[in-house]
Amino acid sequence: MDNELQGRTAHVAAIRERAEAEMKAIGIDETFIGKLVDTFYGRVLAQPELGPVFDARLSGRWPEHMEKMKSFWSAVAFRNGAYGGKPVQAHLGVANMTPELFPKWLELFAATLDDIAPNDEAKAWFMATAERIAKSLTLSLFYNPALDDPALKRA
Ligand code: HEM
Repeated sequence: MDNELQGRTAHVAAIRERAEAEMKAIGIDETFIGKLVDTFYGRVLAQPELGPVFDARLSGRWPEHMEKMKSFWSAVAFRNGAYGGKPVQAHLGVANMTPELFPKWLELFAATLDDIAPNDEAKAWFMATAERIAKSLTLSLFYNPALDDPALKRA
């Protein structure tokens, strides 16, 4: 291995170790991520506005989606590269997806964390992360530069 590659490998390992330590300090482990994903998507399905939007797209593919979401949260929490998908592309063309659904998603996520998170710090970490990603997905999916036109704002 050349020096540059060695340096990069050490850097990635250091990032991962730090993430693991940070998550451990606030009580987040793989078992909790599994429980969170199972509980949250169970509630998503039962929520009258979110449930049908998810189920229309995922009917017959729920087990695969659950595994993907566990890998996704594991990758975000532990920086372990467990997830290699493309979230923006995955949400393109989801029928009846609207920006208004995002606050509902976040509200349900917060309520789920209130019930099962090991402590307030863990809830705060998941919420800050989900809010950041929700904002970024909302912009990628719905941002329309025309609506930022100052002329429109004056009108
Ligand atoms: C109202 C809000 C949302 C709706 C309706 C929604 C819906 C969906 C649906 C239907 C899929 C499955 C796509 C497919 O496999 O065909 C999906 C995948 C996914 N969603 Fe969401 N989602 C929402 C918000 C979020 C948020 C806030 C996050 C992150 C915190 C997120 C992360 C993901 C990820 C990582 C995948 C898997 C992508 C892949 O296939 O690699 N979603 N979502």
